[in-house]
Amino acid sequence: MLFDKKLIDNFASITSNAAIACYNYIGKNDKKIADKAATDSMRNNLNKMDIDGKIVIGEGELDQAPMLYIGEKLGTGKGPSLDIAVDPLEGTNFAAKNLPGALSVLAVTSKGKLFHAPETYMEKIAVGKDVPNDATDLDYPIEKNIKNIADAKNKDLSEITVCLLDRPRHKEIIKKLKKIKVNLKLISDGDISGALLVTNSKYNVDIFVGIGGGPEGVLAASALDSFNCKFQGRFLFKTEKDISRAKSMGIADLNKKYNLNEIVKGDSIFCATGITSSELVEGVKFENGTFLTETLVTHKNSIISIVKKKVAIT
Ligand code: FBP
Repeated sequence: MLFDKKLIDNFASITSNAAIACYNYIGKNDKKIADKAATDSMRNNLNKMDIDGKIVIGEGELDQAPMLYIGEKLGTGKGPSLDIAVDPLEGTNFAAKNLPGALSVLAVTSKGKLFHAPETYMEKIAVGKDVPNDATDLDYPIEKNIKNIADAKNKDLSEITVCLLDRPRHKEIIKKLKKIKVNLKLISDGDISGALLVTNSKYNVDIFVGIGGGPEGVLAASALDSFNCKFQGRFLFKTEKDISRAKSMGIADLNKKYNLNEIVKGDSIFCATGITSSELVEGVKFENGTFLTETLVTHKNSIISIVKKKVAIT
């Protein structure tokens, strides 16, 4: 099924309204209240759409309501059957502390075409479209991945920039990267944005690597697909509970590496509205009684592949 412009616009309004719902909670140093505002807005507005929607990537399980939970049904039930991934507030710290990079994000495919991911960590690699398919792999040493990218781009190692979350778990990889003298872009949060920085040379990021949230990995992959970029992810199941949840979701091989085309199949829509401004999109503005939002919209199978738009709501 191909998605039409009206449906794409409707989904862009969902993240736009969720971002606006957060506006009053930016800089209030309260992650939960901002997240709840975005979630409530998303749920209310998705429920008004003529879709038969199901959350496949959400924020927890049924018992963790009021978050949008995996398996939750949304919409009037009258329209197309869709799988929906949501992160109503990606970068809860950014919104709470009024720092750049908070987004409201969703991705949509037809039923059965988006990976059902449990809420666990994921090892990730994202690279741009100018890097060949076989140049990077989660099982290669990081030095080999970087060298292959440098060769593909005809760059010196000193011209390569690697983006990753600034976390103690990345100590070893950071040490190795420093040794080969590449440039680091260490982000404090927000690895959907981090991965999307490989989409355009203007962001000056050659590879995004490291361990972050699994749901964020699936959401990033759905956007990277439209940009013809590459993504590989492998879930990290640490506890027995994680393992049994993964198995109940149909994941048989717990160590499997997933390439982009195994995560998102067919047509997809990805929308990310800025809550606070970042390199990708401007945050919500309120001027003369009007909210202005900017949304990055990607859509695989149409001439509109990337649309940044401003939505005025009075
Ligand atoms: P939240 O918006 O849920 O706070 O997530 C922010 C984030 O930085 C994600 O982008 C990332 O995938 C995840 O947290 C990393 O988790 P951790 O903070 O546990 O390393």
